[in-house]
Amino acid sequence: MINNVKAVLKRYIKEDSFLRVSLKIVYKFFIKCLNLPDYASELGFWRSWLPKNWERLSCQELQKIIFPKPLLIFINKLQNNGCGNLELLEIGSGPVSLLAWGVNKNLFHVVAIDALADSYEKIMKNYKYSYPIKPIKGYGERLPNVVNKKVFDIIYSSNALDHVVSPEKCLNNMFKVLKKRGGIFTWKDILMKVP
Ligand SMILES: C[S@@+](CC[C@H](N)C(=O)[O-])C[C@H]1O[C@@H](n2cnc3c(N)ncnc32)[C@H](O)[C@@H]1O
Repeated sequence: MINNVKAVLKRYIKEDSFLRVSLKIVYKFFIKCLNLPDYASELGFWRSWLPKNWERLSCQELQKIIFPKPLLIFINKLQNNGCGNLELLEIGSGPVSLLAWGVNKNLFHVVAIDALADSYEKIMKNYKYSYPIKPIKGYGERLPNVVNKKVFDIIYSSNALDHVVSPEKCLNNMFKVLKKRGGIFTWKDILMKVP
């Protein structure tokens, strides 16, 4: 429904026209007042950002640089304590998770969930992009339903808890699916700041 409305708007109202800009402002106002997630802006961001940055993102050198170092320290600690076959859950991975290098190096098995996973899959297919981490559609607020009784050694979420409707529910859910000696890593980290 929303996609149809957007397609009609795109067709008949020019990008920078006064009407288009006004409609965007009204949309953002309602989203904010009703405390709804702004998925349209998120998707719009990735649609324009991905093609511009794909070349460097698909380079393993860069994937290594952007891999979160505190996570690597924790993984080493778990491995030194004899934990193998680590299971990691990522919440709100976006289309290009920062954890790709870890998957390439077989440091863990990852389940990535994202509210916009289906749309990201379409974008990736459209450009014929392939990435080591493919998110599945899911919401941090309904985590146990998505992961189906699975428990994880590590739960990771960067720059996403500030995008969800209820960070509190997400955090509570994280603890429900975390193993006893597992670790939760969450912070605001912005991919665009990457060199
Ligand atoms: C700014 S992006 C961050 C992407 C990536 N983690 C990074 O650090 O670059 C936030 C992501 O959270 C996702 N998201 C928003 N609300 C969500 C929810 N309730 N559950 C899961 N993912 C959600 C959005 O679709 C978006 O892909």
